[in-house]
Amino acid sequence: MRREPAFFLFFFLFFFLFLFFPLLASCENSQVFIVYFGEHKGDKLLHEIEDSHHSYLLSVKESEEDARASLLYSYKHSINGFAAVLTQDEASKLSEMDEVALVFRSDSNKYSLQTTRSWEFLGLEDHMGHQALDWKNRQLGDGLWQRAKYGREVIVGILDTGLWPESESFSDEGMGPMPKTWKGICQTGQGFNSSHCNRKLIGARYYLKGYEQRYGPLNTTLDSRSPRDLDGHGTHTASTAVGRSVPKVSALGGFGLGTVSGGAPLARLAVYKVCWAIPGKSKVEGNTCFEEDMLAAFDDAIADGVHVLSVSIGTQSPIPYTQDGIAVGAFHAAKNNIVVACAAGNAGPTPSTLSNPAPWIITVGASSLDRRFISPVILGNGERLEGETVTPHNLRDYYPLVYAGDVVTPDVPNTPIAGQCLLGSLSPKKVKGKIVLCLRGNGTRVGKGMEVKRAGGAGFILGNSAANGAELVADAHVLPATSVSWISAQKILQYINSTSNPTAMLIPAKTVLQSRPAPFMASFTSRGPNPIDPNILKPDITAPGLDILAAWTGADSPSKLESDNRRVEYNFESGTSMACPHVAAVAALLRAIHPSWSAAAIRSAIITTANPVNNMGLPIADTAAKKETPFAFGSGHLSPQKASDPGLVYDASYKDYAMYFLCRTGVKDPDKKYKCPRKAVAGYDLNSPSLQVSGLNRIITVKRTVTNVGLNNSNYTSYITEPSGYSIKITPSTLFFDRVGQKKRFTIRIEPKTQTTHNTSEYSFGWYGWSDGVHTVRSPTAISPA
Ligand SMILES: *[C@@H]1O[C@H](CO)[C@@H](O)[C@H](O)[C@H]1NC(C)=O
Ligand SMILES: *[C@@H]1O[C@H](CO)[C@@H](O)[C@H](O)[C@H]1NC(C)=O
Ligand SMILES: *[C@@H]1O[C@H](CO)[C@@H](O)[C@H](O)[C@H]1NC(C)=O
Ligand SMILES: *[C@@H]1O[C@H](CO)[C@@H](O)[C@H](O)[C@H]1NC(C)=O
Ligand SMILES: *[C@@H]1O[C@H](CO)[C@@H](O)[C@H](O)[C@H]1NC(C)=O
Ligand SMILES: *[C@@H]1O[C@H](CO)[C@@H](O)[C@H](O)[C@H]1NC(C)=O
Ligand SMILES: *[C@@H]1O[C@H](CO)[C@@H](O)[C@H](O)[C@H]1NC(C)=O
Repeated sequence: MRREPAFFLFFFLFFFLFLFFPLLASCENSQVFIVYFGEHKGDKLLHEIEDSHHSYLLSVKESEEDARASLLYSYKHSINGFAAVLTQDEASKLSEMDEVALVFRSDSNKYSLQTTRSWEFLGLEDHMGHQALDWKNRQLGDGLWQRAKYGREVIVGILDTGLWPESESFSDEGMGPMPKTWKGICQTGQGFNSSHCNRKLIGARYYLKGYEQRYGPLNTTLDSRSPRDLDGHGTHTASTAVGRSVPKVSALGGFGLGTVSGGAPLARLAVYKVCWAIPGKSKVEGNTCFEEDMLAAFDDAIADGVHVLSVSIGTQSPIPYTQDGIAVGAFHAAKNNIVVACAAGNAGPTPSTLSNPAPWIITVGASSLDRRFISPVILGNGERLEGETVTPHNLRDYYPLVYAGDVVTPDVPNTPIAGQCLLGSLSPKKVKGKIVLCLRGNGTRVGKGMEVKRAGGAGFILGNSAANGAELVADAHVLPATSVSWISAQKILQYINSTSNPTAMLIPAKTVLQSRPAPFMASFTSRGPNPIDPNILKPDITAPGLDILAAWTGADSPSKLESDNRRVEYNFESGTSMACPHVAAVAALLRAIHPSWSAAAIRSAIITTANPVNNMGLPIADTAAKKETPFAFGSGHLSPQKASDPGLVYDASYKDYAMYFLCRTGVKDPDKKYKCPRKAVAGYDLNSPSLQVSGLNRIITVKRTVTNVGLNNSNYTSYITEPSGYSIKITPSTLFFDRVGQKKRFTIRIEPKTQTTHNTSEYSFGWYGWSDGVHTVRSPTAISPA
């Protein structure tokens, strides 16, 4: 009898110590950490690498089982590191070890896809009746495509939500055998097997260990445990970069949409699915990507043999390199001479909101095409207001016009939100047969149209809120519709107020090409200055990211609203997500034309040839014609033809980046390969194709080296547009190259002009460059005072 309590106590203790305690530790304090050692030395077999990672874990974990259970990924190819579930304490112990370069935590909701609140940017109803020849066809021209053989030998990797392989954009018809250098696989999973890969889609993998660590087992109704894309985003970005040229994508009514094509239509595609639906969230808001999953994808993509990576993923707000899985993954890609293009983020127009600002990444902002879908409203008093839509309709008559706030059901309170056509708010009695003005604010844009349709309306006008200003988004609504600016919405409200029988007519949409001014910057595109390193100018460039038409998943509606049952093969989307694969495509073409160029040379060519003026010859502005700066557009708008023949490039090596990365961030260098100079390594010391200096209070001299990639015997002369308040001198002012491949050094001396007093948070912008009469090699410059 007396032994029993002790026996039970023993058992209780046993349970507490050996079962309960580790459970507590793993549930309450543990998070996923990335433990990073730097490079692989190439002296270990794959299983030895995993063993070595395991032994590090074992040194901080209680048991062999614990160590095994906690390991999510062991990165074995290029990235030397692992991802594991650790307590803060265990992470600290690891970070103190000499061999460990860096330990950082992977947080939930850190990364997401960079479609602008895709639930707001809605797609087309069936196939719309417009000729929508896209940017690629018009700007690349046959010349560049032919020289690059349409990107035939190049492999582009996409980190995204996977792919809808049945899309015609990924057909391999007429394509040659697999590139011999390819080492990737076609990973089998739910609804996806090797039969879905072909000579176009040569690789497909998926990564969700980090995702499942946070959210538990994937809900396979919500997303597919395979490379298959149920979201649409990955299919859209992949087809923008490398989609086949699909002619006459025809509309339901027999209208031709024209040819839709990716920028490098014969390049090979490898998809790495790293972003997943979030359980409990609607499809329009639920998407997340974890860095341990992305790092595994980077590591595989590097080993598989991709040449270019497109990553339309970013953060809500800027994060330092030492906490940024994309920066680390792209760093290893750079080491392997892979060009990495990333979205700049959709957190604009607020300054200092950039994602992906590392200097080895091409950071891409978003701007408009020169294509608009004009659909004006004519009021009963004859006034004509500009509108845009991609909704095909034939409502050629005046209809009674009402403001949504005046036609709500009796139980909707009389607040501004009454005018927003939220679900169930409109009174069918008061709406039937009328055109309704709905204001933006809460709810989705297409959802408002669905409400007007439910209530029996004849059509609707989507009025911007003051916050939206003049930026119009061309949506495909479920009934005749157009969208108007805030000022126009106010005019319509005044007109409704001023007359007893207000009426309006909606003019069917017409595609207008070569609209002016174009491009203009999207308001959502994230802006500089770069908060992570104020001596590196970011973004690098802008590319089309507004109303981009590309392939779509067959598993979801274009609006991603559950109530929307439409299925489309092509869809309009907006975001820096859509801009990024345009740049990746051009990088692929450049890789095809110049196979010997480094990734840094390709990056330089793309940046120094970008165009900072719009099609009216004026500096690129925003929607409201307000002047923008390089903090919105970098060096300017992507110019593929010129990028293919830049004349000179600013090359950089992995060693330059490694010195910068290690010496600036305090990341350890376990191999002691790089000796940091006593003087701090400044961002402007990198041999970059742009220049930013922050807090300048003295004369500085910056060195640059250019490599001739143009013609033998070329003679370049420098030119300078000084930022106001600074004088800039380039020495020597001319550079003569007698052969291709020759390198020449020059210096840039920057002197603050003493007579001007400056506000320290204000940057002045300018340019410098080189010209030989044929090529122009332009670098944007931003300087702020101390
Ligand atoms: C692969 O998927 C296709 C299409 O879904 C199917 O027809 C085929 O049977 C699958 N093959 C294997 C080996 O599972
Ligand atoms: C999976 O997702 C579907 C669709 O959102 C939902 O109806 C279902 O309850 C989810 N299943 C689980 C096990 O959470
Ligand atoms: C959206 O709805 C919330 C809650 O009703 C309200 O606080 C907010 O002001 C609304 N936003 C707009 C733009 O109307
Ligand atoms: C319309 O008239 C009402 C009352 O007559 C007024 O409160 C409202 O501000 C007016 N709206 C506009 C846009 O003029
Ligand atoms: C430049 O000169 C080299 C050697 O003289 C020659 O082989 C090469 O073809 C020339 N390149 C061009 C672009 O003219
Ligand atoms: C290059 O051009 C400059 C300015 O036109 C000229 O002074 C110089 O002599 C040229 N150099 C050579 C080697 O042709
Ligand atoms: C300095 O410039 C910033 C940004 O333009 C502005 O917000 C701030 O008010 C200025 N400060 C002074 C003292 O003028």
